[in-house]
Amino acid sequence: MSHSAVIARSRPLYERVRSVIPPMEWGGFAEDVERILELKEERNAVILAHNYQTPEIFHCVADITGDSLALARRAMEAEAEAIVLAGVQFMAETAKLMNPEKTVLIPDLGAGCSLAASITARDVRLMRERYPGLPVVAYVNTSAEVKAEADICCTSGNAKKIVESLGAGRVIMLPDEFLARNVAVETKVEIIAWAGHCEVHERFSAAEVRELRAAHPGVTVLAHPECPPEVVAEADYAGSTAGMAEYVEKNRPARVLLLTECSMSDNVAAQYPELHFVRPCNLCPHMKRITLKKIRRSLETMTHEVTIDPAIAARARRAVERMLAVK
Ligand code: 13P
Ligand code: SF4
Repeated sequence: MSHSAVIARSRPLYERVRSVIPPMEWGGFAEDVERILELKEERNAVILAHNYQTPEIFHCVADITGDSLALARRAMEAEAEAIVLAGVQFMAETAKLMNPEKTVLIPDLGAGCSLAASITARDVRLMRERYPGLPVVAYVNTSAEVKAEADICCTSGNAKKIVESLGAGRVIMLPDEFLARNVAVETKVEIIAWAGHCEVHERFSAAEVRELRAAHPGVTVLAHPECPPEVVAEADYAGSTAGMAEYVEKNRPARVLLLTECSMSDNVAAQYPELHFVRPCNLCPHMKRITLKKIRRSLETMTHEVTIDPAIAARARRAVERMLAVK
């Protein structure tokens, strides 16, 4: 089949991303998109993609998309035999925790996370020794070993609710210092934090937000709660990646600035070409390790399979299940 025939066949899919992907670039994607769609059928596989995946992945090959909370929840609904997680390692581990019988693949084993790398299981045990009796809330951006040491998990979409669900006056919340401090502003519960940071969100500054507001009068500023608290204080809204997408859907601000990873703006902009997105853009190098070519290779070779020590998995799963049970 000629390349131009593949391009012609892929036109309906291209329509989904035409406002953010130039036609020349699509020429490099169309064949991989077509092959991935075939491979999903052949392998009885689904692709779960985080909101930070590039638009050709997010809008053209993914079956389930969303923030970490939605991916954790919906991983359990997947009927397929195999799950390809287009995201980072901790997301693939969470999908495996919730689907121990399924094959869970990650297209690049190096897709880590600065938050997950900032803390070990031993660190959590030392925190417990230092603060005896305090419950431990672990952000999902952690390894399975760290989750196994926690009482409950949380995501950026439910952190306040999870902290308050414990009925304690004081909790340990790790590893994201900024998420912890942003939650602390909104709750009476005292929060003991760890000093981990997201390398993407820690780079935004309040001065940058003020400059962008001056350069783009009337712009609506949305921030991820992994941003420093002084940045969140400058924003009109703070919420998870899904929260930000919902805000845009409901409010349709004519000019909007998302203080988060670059592809998030591209993915939302592809859906609302009439809105103007200001892009101060910070890339996540870990998320960007996942490409169409690697997803194709992952399905062709059924690699890289995510495995978790069963004893650790049982304890880590409990922490994720407790989180999902909080209504
Ligand atoms: P969300 O759960 O808001 O999608 O965040 C995940 C993440 O890694 C943000 O940096
Ligand atoms: Fe981790 Fe930050 Fe990348 Fe999210 S954006 S995966 S928190 S490094």
